[in-house]
Amino acid sequence: MSVQIAPSILSADFAALGRDIAAVERGGADLIHVDVMDGHFVPNITIGPPVVKAIKRAATRPLDVHLMIEQPDLYIEDFVKAGANMISVHVEAVPHLHRTVHLIKKLGAKAGVVLNPATPAGVLEEIAPDLDFVLVMSVNPGFGGQAFIRHSLQKLRRVREVLTRAGSSAPIEIDGGIDLGNVAEVVAAGASILVAGNAIFGSSDAEAATRALRAAAVGAPTGSRA
Ligand code: DX5
Ligand code: ZN
Repeated sequence: MSVQIAPSILSADFAALGRDIAAVERGGADLIHVDVMDGHFVPNITIGPPVVKAIKRAATRPLDVHLMIEQPDLYIEDFVKAGANMISVHVEAVPHLHRTVHLIKKLGAKAGVVLNPATPAGVLEEIAPDLDFVLVMSVNPGFGGQAFIRHSLQKLRRVREVLTRAGSSAPIEIDGGIDLGNVAEVVAAGASILVAGNAIFGSSDAEAATRALRAAAVGAPTGSRA
């Protein structure tokens, strides 16, 4: 499965999102990862549909909208109308996951389910055939720049097993603490959509950092455009 790089704009300059998105797109970003936080499900507040709509005007790559909010059903349509191409919801935040997943799909976006670090992979067993992708959190959600939780490597392998048993080859996204030092390991463990915030926008050159992350992910020599 080919690797997709999804820079998280959480660590970008919010006063210059258009400039920062253009930089990572020049660097080969496949998706733009947008972190939506409500101050309830996670202890941080970020952005809502109006900002997603503005990002949509700036981005040429699909928007991957990660909802870290309670009651996402109330807002999913607004995010799709604002331009979200992929929407993921946390299994820990949603009581009627089947309904929510099918709402996302009915509205025309790709549907993903997110697992927090302490949530077992087995929770996906019944919903796995319906999912377009799974997102494994490798930090506790809420903030960029946290350290990668190494147990996530085992979690990735377990999620892949659950998907395979369900007859699904859906891609697995990994989010949190991804950098040049661990990106090859997460790919080897089964991740193919790679979110990175701090490793890209925390560097002085987001374009080069995006390119370097892909090279490290596919095991290419440094500086390669692979
Ligand atoms: C964390 C967010 C992540 C975050 C990743 O709650 O879901 O997308 O921006 O940032 P880094 O790569 O800095 O851990
Ligand atoms: Zn995220």
